[in-house]
Amino acid sequence: MSDDDAPRFDFPGAFDLSGEVAVVTGGSRGIGRAIAHGLAAAGADVAPVSRTAADVERVAGELADYGVETCVTTADVADQADVTDCFETVAGELGQPSVVVNNAGINPEAALGTPDRVDATGFDQVNDVNLRGAYACAHAAAEHLETTGGSLVNVASVGGLVGLPRQHPYVASKHGLVGLTRSLALDWAPAVRANCLAPGYVATELTADLTGNEELAASIRDRTPLDRFAEPKEVAAPAVFLASSAASYLTGATIAVDGGWTAR
Ligand SMILES: NC(=O)c1ccc[n+]([C@@H]2O[C@H](COP(=O)([O-])OP(=O)(O)OC[C@H]3O[C@@H](n4cnc5c(N)ncnc54)[C@H](OP(=O)(O)O)[C@@H]3O)[C@@H](O)[C@H]2O)c1
Repeated sequence: MSDDDAPRFDFPGAFDLSGEVAVVTGGSRGIGRAIAHGLAAAGADVAPVSRTAADVERVAGELADYGVETCVTTADVADQADVTDCFETVAGELGQPSVVVNNAGINPEAALGTPDRVDATGFDQVNDVNLRGAYACAHAAAEHLETTGGSLVNVASVGGLVGLPRQHPYVASKHGLVGLTRSLALDWAPAVRANCLAPGYVATELTADLTGNEELAASIRDRTPLDRFAEPKEVAAPAVFLASSAASYLTGATIAVDGGWTAR
C-alpha cells in the first residue's frame, strides 16, 4: 500500500459535530442530559427537550458553556402536535435538525408487574412515550433529516434485546424501538442513518428505586460483568459516536451499552 492509500484517520475531526443541530428528547436530566452535553462538547447546537420548561432552561444554560447555540422548547413526545411544533421551533431558532436523539422514556409503577396486574392504561402509558413518542419525533424530523443527511439515535434498553420479568410494557416498547430503528434505517438509506443504543443499568432518577435498595443494587452489580451501574455520560459517548461521521457505515444497528450484561 502506498502512502496515498493509507487510511489516514482524522481524529478528533471524525467525531466533530460543528454545524450540526441536535434535538435530544428527555434532555433535561439523566442520560438525555449527558447526551446533550456530549453533543454540545462535540460542537453541535443542541435543543434539550422535555415537558418541564424550568429543567430545559437549566440544561440549555449548561450547554451554552460549550460555546454552542441552544434553544429552550418543551414537548410531550406522546403528543404529535406538540412534537411537530417543537421541531418547527428548533428549525426556526437553530436551523434544520440534523441529529435527533429519541431518549425520552418512562417505566412507571402502573406498568410494573405480571400481565394480570398491569392493565391496558399502564401498558399504553409506557408505549405512548417510549415507542409512539419516538415515532412522533421521527415523523416530525423526517423532512429535516432528509434535507440535512442527518442521523437518528434511539435510546432503547437491554429490555429491547431480552425479556425482563415484571416489565412487559417497557420490554415491548423497547423491542418495538429496536424494530422501528431497523425499518427507519431501510426507509431512509442512504441519506439518513438510524441506529439504536441499548443501555444496561444506569444510575439516574429512573433507577433510583434500584440504586437506593442495596440488596437489589448488589444483585444487579453481580449480574453485570463490569460490576457496577453505568454513569450517564458512558451512554453519551456512544451516542456522540453514532451521530458523527465516525459512524458513517453504521445504520440499523443496536449497540448494547450494558457493561457486558447481555454477553452472558
Ligand atoms: N437509567 C437506566 O438504567 C436506563 C437503562 C436502559 C435504558 N434507559 C432509557 O434511557 C432513557 C433515559 O432514561 P433516564 O434513566 O435518563 O430517565 P430519567 O432520568 O427519568 O429522565 C427521563 C427524561 O425523559 C423526559 N420525559 C419523560 N416523559 C416525557 C414525555 N412524555 N415527553 C418528553 N419528555 C419526557 C423527562 O423529563 P420530564 O419528565 O420533565 O418530561 C426526563 O428528561 C429512557 O428511554 C430509558 O428507558 C435507561
